[in-house]
Amino acid sequence: MSSIVRLLATARELWPWYLGIIVSSVGVAVTALLTPFILKAATDEVVAQLQGGGGGVAALVVLAAALLAVELANTLLGNVGGFLGDTMTVRLRAILSSRYYAKLLGLPQRYFDTQLTGTIINRLQRSITETTQFLQMFSNSLFPTLITVAAVLVVAATYSWPLALLLAVIYPAFTWLTALTSRRWQKLEQVKNREFDVAGGRFAEAIGQIRVVKSFVREREELSAFDDNYAAAVGVTGIQSRWWHLMDVARRGALNVIFFGIYAIVFVQTAQGAWTLGVMVLLLQLVAMARQPVMMMSFLVDSSQRAVAGTRDYFVVMDEVPEPRAALDATASPDLSPERVLPARDAALTPVAPAAPTASSAGPTVRPLARPAWPRVADAPAVAFDHVTFGYDDGSEVLHDVTFTIRPGERVAFVGESGGGKTTLVNLLLGLYRPDAGQIRLFGTDVGGVGLGELRCQIGVVFQDASLFSGTIRENITYGRPEATDAEVEQAARRANAHEFVSRLGRGYDSEIGERGIKLSGGQKQRIAVARAMLKDAPILVLDEATSALDSKSERLVQAGLEELMADRTSLIIAHRLSTISSVDRIVTLAHGVVDEIGTPAELARTGGIYAELLALQASASKADRKRLAEFDITA
Ligand SMILES: Nc1ncnc2c1ncn2[C@@H]1O[C@H](COP(=O)(O)OP(=O)(O)OP(=O)(O)O)[C@@H](O)[C@H]1O
Ligand SMILES: [Mg+2]
Repeated sequence: MSSIVRLLATARELWPWYLGIIVSSVGVAVTALLTPFILKAATDEVVAQLQGGGGGVAALVVLAAALLAVELANTLLGNVGGFLGDTMTVRLRAILSSRYYAKLLGLPQRYFDTQLTGTIINRLQRSITETTQFLQMFSNSLFPTLITVAAVLVVAATYSWPLALLLAVIYPAFTWLTALTSRRWQKLEQVKNREFDVAGGRFAEAIGQIRVVKSFVREREELSAFDDNYAAAVGVTGIQSRWWHLMDVARRGALNVIFFGIYAIVFVQTAQGAWTLGVMVLLLQLVAMARQPVMMMSFLVDSSQRAVAGTRDYFVVMDEVPEPRAALDATASPDLSPERVLPARDAALTPVAPAAPTASSAGPTVRPLARPAWPRVADAPAVAFDHVTFGYDDGSEVLHDVTFTIRPGERVAFVGESGGGKTTLVNLLLGLYRPDAGQIRLFGTDVGGVGLGELRCQIGVVFQDASLFSGTIRENITYGRPEATDAEVEQAARRANAHEFVSRLGRGYDSEIGERGIKLSGGQKQRIAVARAMLKDAPILVLDEATSALDSKSERLVQAGLEELMADRTSLIIAHRLSTISSVDRIVTLAHGVVDEIGTPAELARTGGIYAELLALQASASKADRKRLAEFDITA
């Protein structure tokens, strides 16, 4: 329960809603409590009139009118509370989801190496849905009834303390019996949720790479593994539900016995003349009012347990340690000001019009980031790796004691076998991982010393896999610089040799490219990714196999565009065409995670090292040599 309190506390800016809900709940409780009193008065009045006394028809009509007024007020207040509950819930949902997303966006790369996307999404869905559902129920119905129960006890006590005592025993007894049930239930719920998470994670992965699934004809196996998870969940639910309902029989049985005592007292006392008929009606009404929430209790306990489990999952993520100086503040709340909320509401009130062509994937409003300055030490190299040793989590070293420097404006190529650690160098440079030993400096400043946002603004990267987003080509090219003009977009696309194919698409730069750019060819994706990095216009350019998917002709064209771009900036190039590598200033060769040689292409051609071997292999046409060449990921 404490996690739910923590959750409410983290969203304390919703206090006007909390307060409004409490006030309307009290109103609902008071009006609900007035009804039995009016019925008591009416019963006594009817009895008096039957015995020849009383105030006549007028008195009865007044009492009926009082009932009407009280019930109307109850309906009204109940709905005001319901409205506040609904709007509070959706706001809470917005706040919690936004913070969860902000948190995830700020977590280090290592976190994502061990999580499946679908699992992360599944967990968010579950924890937030269940928590907000519980709170909605709590505020819309349970809260008022709890207040009613308290009042019922007080009123009952004024008539008969044994009665009040019996009523009072119900709640702790029920809660105690529920607590007995709860522990085992929660354990089973966790097992079940794990199954759902695994299924959801794999589901998202398989749908995301549906071509692979289809080409290997694995649909049946994927579905069957998915069904296995759900079958396990079904099995666990059977055990869980049987346990729950057995315990519920025990709980309700105990309740029924207590109610037996209550009714016996009411009937006998009235018959013996201790209470009037009116008082009996009042007490029966109060007992019924007290009974309803107890019956609801098992439902409430069920949903509160889910909510407790859900909030716990939520806080597991929220308590993860973010990247140092992460770009986002995961405790901030999303902007839900009227200006932001009202347009959406107005849109909901007007008939649906066909979506405007560009608005369909506009996404959230983008606030452009001014590029923050990076501290530059005079005469320092642009990039320096200083005795860097690094391994991913599994322990084996990927890079060992790697040292090299790159002067500002220099073009350096990295060559080494596949899996040799070239992309890992890029990951470290971007601060996605921290080296286990040694230091990486950018313009003389340790990359761990300044904010990661500042660091990453200095580096334009074309990743080994193009990694595009759904949306239009324009949105993708301007991803790093949303404020870029159309002319700038076109210029970047021309340099990346993308303009021509983009123009041939039906909607040009407004063409939608599908999830991860699935509607584009591999080479087209790469050229968009190159244009995206060019437009970012950062002082350091990293090309990780940026042109590997292009044919020689297209590559030469992209290369020409890149030449111009690389002229006044520092470039790190990982390429597998010797033609690309031969024009660089220096080459760094990596073998088994250590730097083997560093030198100009001309120098390395003579040393007999990896590069020289590659040149020789390229010159040779033998089958064995071509095979060896392929091992280096190098083609002529
Ligand atoms: N996120 C990761 N977690 C654990 N190990 C990883 C991770 N990424 C890469 N590795 C391992 O690190 C080693 C180096 O990988 P890296 O991607 O740097 O190679 P590369 O030189 O870029 O190869 P290629 O030419 O094939 O792209 C590989 O053995 C790989 O298995
Ligand atoms: Mg790589």
